[in-house]
Amino acid sequence: MSSAAKPKFKNPRARFNFEGRPVSVTGVGSYVPAKILTNLELEKMVETTDEWITTRTGIKERRISAADEFTSDMAAQAALRAMKMAGITAEQIDLIIIATITPDMPFPSTACLVQQKIGARRAAAFDIEAACSGFIYGLEVGQQFIMSRTYDTVLVIGAEKLSSIVDWQDRNTCVLFGDGAGAAILQNRPNSHGLLTAVMGADGGKANLLTMPAGGSRCPATADSVNARLHYLRMDGKETFKSAVQAMLTAAQEALRRCELDITQIKCVIPHQANRRIIDAVGDRLGVSPEQLFVNLDRYGNTSAASVAIALDEAVSSGKVSRGELMLLVVFGAGLTWGAAVIEW
Ligand code: UT7
Repeated sequence: MSSAAKPKFKNPRARFNFEGRPVSVTGVGSYVPAKILTNLELEKMVETTDEWITTRTGIKERRISAADEFTSDMAAQAALRAMKMAGITAEQIDLIIIATITPDMPFPSTACLVQQKIGARRAAAFDIEAACSGFIYGLEVGQQFIMSRTYDTVLVIGAEKLSSIVDWQDRNTCVLFGDGAGAAILQNRPNSHGLLTAVMGADGGKANLLTMPAGGSRCPATADSVNARLHYLRMDGKETFKSAVQAMLTAAQEALRRCELDITQIKCVIPHQANRRIIDAVGDRLGVSPEQLFVNLDRYGNTSAASVAIALDEAVSSGKVSRGELMLLVVFGAGLTWGAAVIEW
């Protein structure tokens, strides 16, 4: 074992410490659609104001994909950028995991569509659904496949076309969401470490806080379900807010504990970009300084599973983190689900 691969942490749940295969993040990439929808434009669509949206959420604008631009298209663009950074060809990819709540269609999976678009002929492909927590869930699943030596190269993507399930007549929700995609390449690199740990959690008892009621087996699509606007997302914002703060705090603390790290050792904290007040509440409780925090919510709104994936790419490309520095990603979403990951860049 080289000196770089020697275990740093005593805690066996820091994956870094496993006898076996370290999992590196060798490439990241993201894509957002060109069309910008500003708060001022939303003022003309529903009864809202730039002032309300800015003070209650921190969002100033969001990206909206074109009518003929789907989740798989954005995912493929993000994937190609991550592959370029990793210096790999599509043929090298063993597995594609896409986290999304807005698949191109209920089946086949969006991962299969992306496999075809990027030409990853050898890759197995499937979607996972953990709402806004999906990218962290994807990292954890991908990491397990590499650690178990099943695969060497896994492409994990968070991608959403939320504009397709947002009720543009509901001011409570339509101001919050946007479209986009982010991707990461996970690989085994013997003498380096990337993904140190990933934490996942869920509480199905709070499933009713954030849902899309129709379109599944419980309420298949009918003229009535369409007329009742049941094919749009619905949210109890206040309760979601409260649960989010606690869930993110718990996940972040567990990830740090597993790696025997203190928050001051983290260079960059990347929270799920849902609401500036949630980010600040979690940041305050964790003791995160403003310099550590990465926020792009003002430009993209909440892009669900794509949120921390896009932010991860931007944190890297903007130079907010350098090689060898530590990042903490922390998320929550419908389900409820939550998660956190520590990455050494
Ligand atoms: O990825 C997970 C996704 N979900 C979240 O992260 C959501 C978490 N929750 C939140 O971010 C916040 O709860 C919201 C931003 C959704 C709402 O903020 P709030 O401070 O909890 O507002 P509220 O629900 O208490 O609503 C306050 C008022 C209400 O009016 P009344 O009943 O007090 O007269 C709403 O009708 O604000 C009204 N309101 C709006 N006013 C102008 C709600 N949406 C809007 C709007 N513009 N867009």
